[in-house]
Amino acid sequence: MLNSIINKFIDTHKLGVEEYETLLNDVTNEEKEVLRVEAVRLATSIYGKDIYARGLIEFSNYCKNDCYYCGIRNGNKNAERYRLTKEQIYSCCDIGYELGFRTFVLQSGEDLYFTDEIMVEIISHIRKKFPDCAITLSIGEKEKETYKKYFDAGANRYLLRHETANKTHYEKLHPETMSYEHRMKCLQDLRDIGYQVGAGFMVESPYQTNKDLAYDLKFIEEFKPEMCGIGPFIPHKDTIYKNEKAGTLEKTLLLLSIVRIIRPNVLLPATTALGTINPLGREKGVEHGANVVMPNLSPSSVRNKYLLYDNKICTGDEAAECKDCMSARMKRIGYTLVIDRGDCKKM
Ligand code: SAM
Ligand code: FES
Repeated sequence: MLNSIINKFIDTHKLGVEEYETLLNDVTNEEKEVLRVEAVRLATSIYGKDIYARGLIEFSNYCKNDCYYCGIRNGNKNAERYRLTKEQIYSCCDIGYELGFRTFVLQSGEDLYFTDEIMVEIISHIRKKFPDCAITLSIGEKEKETYKKYFDAGANRYLLRHETANKTHYEKLHPETMSYEHRMKCLQDLRDIGYQVGAGFMVESPYQTNKDLAYDLKFIEEFKPEMCGIGPFIPHKDTIYKNEKAGTLEKTLLLLSIVRIIRPNVLLPATTALGTINPLGREKGVEHGANVVMPNLSPSSVRNKYLLYDNKICTGDEAAECKDCMSARMKRIGYTLVIDRGDCKKM
């Protein structure tokens, strides 16, 4: 039975929700290896042995939201808050450009200080100074007009994990002030405006079942995002989920392989969270179908303050060290960290 589901999946790149659930429930170690080999074959056939590097700039950890799992949620009074100045953000880009990065990812909490006007000024400045670079935003839920202003100013990509494709599960992870419908609407708005869009979810987040994950996989299959961020949930000591178990390496790797098979050309990061739960997590991610890594360009003075979860890695390094470390890690497993905008390739 499972054998026929796996064969169908590899042939057609899609399954029904119940089939995804059966796959997640019953997959054996040998079958995981079949999926892994197929995922790597697909990634290599499209992207070769290239791994795209994105320069991540975590420019503010202020957030108006209160996602229950997140270490920088508004309600965490122990979080030491910071926000970079425009000049500091530009300087991160300068350093990143010198190091060879051609994609900048600007990420933050939903910080009300950064009004549309200020964001447009920042995006326009970076666009003008680095016309050959992709600008990716990851700054949360906004209204469509705002997303359009950012796009017109020169932003190309937007990362907004859908977090979970089951409304009931969404409501266990977020307070009433946030809604599943609005998160999904944002993703659709971004798509309609013309961004390359990134969705995604945490693995083994509190209350998550294989059925929830099956809905996530169906959502990825149908929404067809250009990027998909998947990392293990990791507890943070100042959240209500502090005593929950972290997501496992094994399950995250399985989901990376499955997502690669669903969307062979998807840009799929081996996340910092994966590197946090296992010292070789990002390498293993690549060996299960991931093709993107996101070394940190944030100034080292603020690195240890953007703490979404406990024991986050790479909080003490300079940008150059992060890039060199990642480059060496990829080389050791037979891949090359490339200097490229790294757009989603057509299949
Ligand atoms: N504010 C933006 C947003 O909501 O999309 C971007 C920043 S948010 C911190 C980026 C991602 O971090 C979230 O989409 C979530 O999946 C992930 N994240 C937050 N807390 C986490 C945790 N405890 N473990 C693993 N990932 C977490
Ligand atoms: Fe806003 Fe996590 S609650 S970034």
